[in-house]
Parts: sequence; structure tokens; C-alpha cells
Amino acid sequence: MYSTANFITPSSPQEPQRAPIGVFDSGVGGLTVLQQIYKQLPQESIIYFGDTARLPYGIRSQAEILQFVRDILNWMQQQQVKMVIMACNTSSALALEIVRSEYNFPILGVILPGAKAATQQGKRIGVIATPATAKSNAYRQAIIEIKPDAQVWQVSCPEFVPLIEQNRIHDPYTTEVAKAYLEPLLQQEIDTLVYGCTHYPHLAPILRSLLPSYIKLVDPAVHVVIACSQELDLLGIKNTHPPLPTHFAVSGCPEQFAQSGLQFLGYTPMVKQISFLESPIA
Ligand code: DGL
Repeated sequence: MYSTANFITPSSPQEPQRAPIGVFDSGVGGLTVLQQIYKQLPQESIIYFGDTARLPYGIRSQAEILQFVRDILNWMQQQQVKMVIMACNTSSALALEIVRSEYNFPILGVILPGAKAATQQGKRIGVIATPATAKSNAYRQAIIEIKPDAQVWQVSCPEFVPLIEQNRIHDPYTTEVAKAYLEPLLQQEIDTLVYGCTHYPHLAPILRSLLPSYIKLVDPAVHVVIACSQELDLLGIKNTHPPLPTHFAVSGCPEQFAQSGLQFLGYTPMVKQISFLESPIA
């Protein structure tokens, strides 16, 4: 079903803290979470997977997302990870609660940490997200549960992920698209905007230039890594040894991902290709 080659020599059962953390997304979006891990948890070893052959996830059905997520988690299990961060809002919104109990390692999603952070910032909260995440209402439900008097507006932004994956962040067309997506939120006079897709912090310079300065931007990547750190402490599995270099794998073209890596991470990662051969959905 998947490549059997393991990246990392398994940590001994006596030293689970040395095991890697698995991080995955459909593509380069999860790199915004990876950057936060480098900042907040620099001693951890990471395995990153980008499902680039099957992106964008944001226009997929829940059944498809569930299948993709299980493919990836099965592979992560084979890599003997100690924890997984779903660095993808779409997977977190549509699959996390279903798959969480199917694996013997903790799985963290980005929605709850992002929603919590948003409620600490404001009351009129805008969320920009993929069509699947917006439709799921996951952010609205999580925010209202924490802060019942908050108001939430979710805008679906189908064009953003393809534009980011094609490296068209500074294309004037992207600014025009962003203006159109932000317009209804500005009309509602939001005080807080949540990046409801891990790809969108890559657009920060564009979005910030279109928003009044009083609107606070919430990046769930920051907060999921805080939650990850707390969970590692709680379980007593924070790594205290020097980390191994990050291992990258994709289902699509490794060279293309390596190029994006250079742009978003500042170095060219070594990227390996993994295929989920038996997946009927391509
Ligand atoms: N970056 C992911 C998210 O946060 C997936 C985007 C996509 O592939 O549509 O939702």
C-alpha cells in the first residue's frame, strides 16, 4: 500500500522521546507549522509528509479526506512516530475526531488551538478557509463553544491553495482574489481574522496590506505547536537529545516540493517520493 522504506532508525522502546513527530498536509501549507516547530521545539526530530499528488484537499468529500488521512497515518505509524500534528485544517475539520481513536499515538489538529486563540483576541471573528473547512462549520462550532457571545463569519477561498502551490503569491491576480474574499468580512467589521488553512500564512504580506491594522490575525500553527509542547511534557516524551535532520516525503513531484521548500524554509530539503498505490481515488 505504501513504500516500506523507513526514514529513521526506530527509537528503542526505552527511549520514546527520541522518536520523531509526524507532520502532514496536502502540500506546502504544513510548512507554516514546521517553521513554528523549529522555533518552539527545535530539539524535536520531524517527518513531514505533503500529499501533493492529491491536493487540493479543500474541494474533496469527507470520505476522500478520511481515506487520505488514514493512508498517511498508517504510513506515519510505520515510521514509529511518537505523535502526529495534522498541519491541515481540512483534515482536522473532517477527519480528526473519527481517526483519533484508531491509532496508538496522540494526534493533534489545528482547529481547536486556533479557535481558542481567536476567542482570546476578539468577538467579531472572520475565518478564511478551504471550501470543505468552511462548509464543515468546525471553526464556528469550536469558537461558539468557548465564547458563546462571539460572532463568526467563515469565507471559503477556493483559489488560494492552487495560487500558493503554484508560487503565485506576489502575482497581482492573487491580490485581486484576496480583496474579493476579504470584502464580506470587512463589511461585517471583524476585529479578528483566523487563517483557517495552513497555506494562508504564506499570504501574510498580501493579506496584511489589505486589512486595517486593528484587525488581529490568528495563526493556528503557533497555537498547535504550543499545544504539542504541553502534550509532550504531559507524556514525558520531549526529546532532550540533538534532533535528526527533518525528513520530507511527498506523493507528487519531489523536485517541485524541494523548490518550494527553499522559498518557504530558506533551505532546499531532500525530498523522497511515497506512493499510496492502492488508493482508488487519485
Ligand atoms: N493546508 C490545508 C488546510 O489547512 C489543505 C488545503 C488544501 O489542500 O485545500 O486546509
